[in-house]
Amino acid sequence: MKTLKMMMGVAAASMLVVAGSTKVEAQKVLVLYYSQTSNTKAVAECIANQLNADIEEIVAVNPYDGDFSATIERCKEEQKAGTTPKIKPIKADLSKYKTIFLGYPIWFGTYAPPVATWLDEVDLSGKTIVPFCTFGSGGLESSVAMLASKQPNAKILDGYGVRAARMKAMHMEVKEFLLGSGFLRGDFTAPGPFSVPHLVSDEEAAIFNAAIGDYPMMQNAKARTVASRTIPNGIEYLFTATEKPRRNPDPNLQMRPPKEMEVYVIVVNGQAPEFTKVVR
Ligand SMILES: Cc1cc2nc3c(=O)[nH]c(=O)nc-3n(C[C@H](O)[C@H](O)[C@H](O)COP(=O)(O)O)c2cc1C
Repeated sequence: MKTLKMMMGVAAASMLVVAGSTKVEAQKVLVLYYSQTSNTKAVAECIANQLNADIEEIVAVNPYDGDFSATIERCKEEQKAGTTPKIKPIKADLSKYKTIFLGYPIWFGTYAPPVATWLDEVDLSGKTIVPFCTFGSGGLESSVAMLASKQPNAKILDGYGVRAARMKAMHMEVKEFLLGSGFLRGDFTAPGPFSVPHLVSDEEAAIFNAAIGDYPMMQNAKARTVASRTIPNGIEYLFTATEKPRRNPDPNLQMRPPKEMEVYVIVVNGQAPEFTKVVR
């Protein structure tokens, strides 16, 4: 629905042809992002190039420049203290932009803390926000829900997210995303709906297991149902899965209930299955 409105909105705008596709020449767009290890930066630059948009990085005054464990430790301390990091002032004049693409890595299931700081400092009422993120396994949906509750008067569009392990697919996917959400005009066929889910067969369970591979956080997951649909050059599966119950470390406590999740898997051109995101 949001996408349809966006397409109707931009239909009236003038057009500019850019490298085979047609860019919608509407108001100037800002791409604002935080990135620690450059994955999100690469997506931000790709979007800004495709849209000829302005781009700016959110920078923490005291950068998270340690390794993974040091970053986790610092985040834990900040969470305990109920703080988020100070950020340098944003140079862009936000009043010039109706649409802001907001990019971040997923940390602990949502946008990284420097983005939380920025969201606490601004009022995005009336603006259109297009979230994009990179992640190990997922977090687009949960971060977008949090973004919407932080900025209830902004119009938040469905965003784009990509796994750090799939960055090679990012350029093509970003273009498809921009076409599908009406920011670029050109050939685009929206994928059809998923089939009705059914219990997984042994063959489908094998596809699920191959897609998960040795991804650390998913070793306990067991596929339960699956739906599918055709995508360009292949098939996309939507598995529901449960984490097999784990023994609670405290023998006096109940076993933790198995967690439900949705796992999206693609098989393109007969290549090995890969998961594109997990929605918990
Ligand atoms: C402190 C920290 C927490 C993270 N938490 C998650 C998480 O909850 N879920 C996830 O899928 N990936 C998580 N990741 C992985 C990052 O989202 C992923 O590596 C991302 O691509 C990094 O983006 P960047 O290169 O732009 O910094 C975490 C990474 C760090 C450093």
